[in-house]
Amino acid sequence: MTRKTDKVLRNWTPDSWKSHEARHLPVYEDGAALAAAEATLQRYPPLVFAGEARALKADLAEVSAGRGFLLQGGDCAESFAEFHPNNIRDTFRVLLQMAVVLTFAGKLPVVKVGRMAGQFAKPRSSDTETQNGVTLPSYFGDNVNGIEFDPDTRRNDPERMIRAYSQAAATLNLLRAFAGGGYANLRQVHQWTLDFMGRSPWADKFAQVSDRIGESLDFMEACGIDPRTVPQLQGTSFYTSHEALLLPYEQAMTRQDSLTGDWFDTSAHMVWIGDRTRFEGSAHIEFARGIGNPLGMKCGPSMEPDALVRLLDTLNPAREAGRITLISRFGHDKVEAGLPPLVRAVKREGHDVVWSCDPMHGNVVKAESGYKTRPFDRILTEVKGFFAVHRAEGTHAGGIHIEMTGQDVTECTGGAVAITDARLGDRYHTHCDPRLNAAQSLELAFLLAEMLNLEVAERQANAA
Ligand code: PEP
Ligand code: CO
Repeated sequence: MTRKTDKVLRNWTPDSWKSHEARHLPVYEDGAALAAAEATLQRYPPLVFAGEARALKADLAEVSAGRGFLLQGGDCAESFAEFHPNNIRDTFRVLLQMAVVLTFAGKLPVVKVGRMAGQFAKPRSSDTETQNGVTLPSYFGDNVNGIEFDPDTRRNDPERMIRAYSQAAATLNLLRAFAGGGYANLRQVHQWTLDFMGRSPWADKFAQVSDRIGESLDFMEACGIDPRTVPQLQGTSFYTSHEALLLPYEQAMTRQDSLTGDWFDTSAHMVWIGDRTRFEGSAHIEFARGIGNPLGMKCGPSMEPDALVRLLDTLNPAREAGRITLISRFGHDKVEAGLPPLVRAVKREGHDVVWSCDPMHGNVVKAESGYKTRPFDRILTEVKGFFAVHRAEGTHAGGIHIEMTGQDVTECTGGAVAITDARLGDRYHTHCDPRLNAAQSLELAFLLAEMLNLEVAERQANAA
């Protein structure tokens, strides 16, 4: 296996990140407890199989060639408290609804990747938080410490990694059951509508799409195509992803594939490197370069085109298509100026990437009510800017990366069922950043489908 030899030559080991600069990693007081938790995790079964990560990479290679669209979404931070089958089901079904809208209206296959089953660890701008004169460590995600402002809960506890693993395993098990066990069967499309979405005008539009899909299925059946024998109609592929931030956990889940000898981080199909940890020479880049999974990398306003090209050379020296997804997150007012230099540099160097848009992380504002929110119109503006840049550069607007939930939360303002600043307090449940609720997510899917449609039509016209 040449790749295996390459890795040895390139001097990578699952723990080589330890000799690089690591930011946003928790310090554990009890080294023995950390070592014990890592040893336990190393003995646990992998959550995904390398072949699945390779299948996702192949799907993403199609996206990078303009023949698909990546839909990646889920919680900002999963939590132990919100671990419930209904939450998993509702997020899954909103992602299915979005995927149906995008496939039907955008006429492209949609690669579905959840920010689920492992999205626990969070980078924080400050190591500490002060409330009423008391200073404690910040909350770093449920796999590190607890959110309650209490000295004991805020203590970094390596045992939490074991609990996070168990929750990820159970979540993934249910997702696999939904994806393959009949829930995702296209015949169920009408059943995916959530009750509270009745208030959204986009729910009606979804019902119309569902009717048309039903008619298409009837037509196919009348033509003698039995949906029971077409696996694409019976179920769907659904992948998982999270930010590979907590390196002790990711390292413990990294295993050598017995078929190829390549290393894979088996905690998820895809992992990404966050905007705060993707600097050159970082521990997170070092870890990511050695694993065979498809990788995401966030690109915010501080990313320089030359640095991006060097990072791509490090992460993807073999220039494998589908290996890298660049997730831009500039903010509504910066994307049109900031993204083109990156797109041009990547194109000039001949790197094949999926370009995806995270319209969430550059658009956080503090509402008058004191809540951290994201105005829906700014999210849409960033998405439109992202599509406009790619149209102008002749590249494919290949994906969307969002923080969303299937629950009827009030965390982002705006949308067709307008959430006002004053109503943010009604159901503000997130453990970290504000998420789109089910109705806002569906609305976004219809607007995305429209833009995707334009891009595809333009491409076809140019080719004719
Ligand atoms: C995130 O995706 O939750 C996140 C922290 O994003 P970023 O690294 O882009 O700030
Ligand atoms: Co977030």
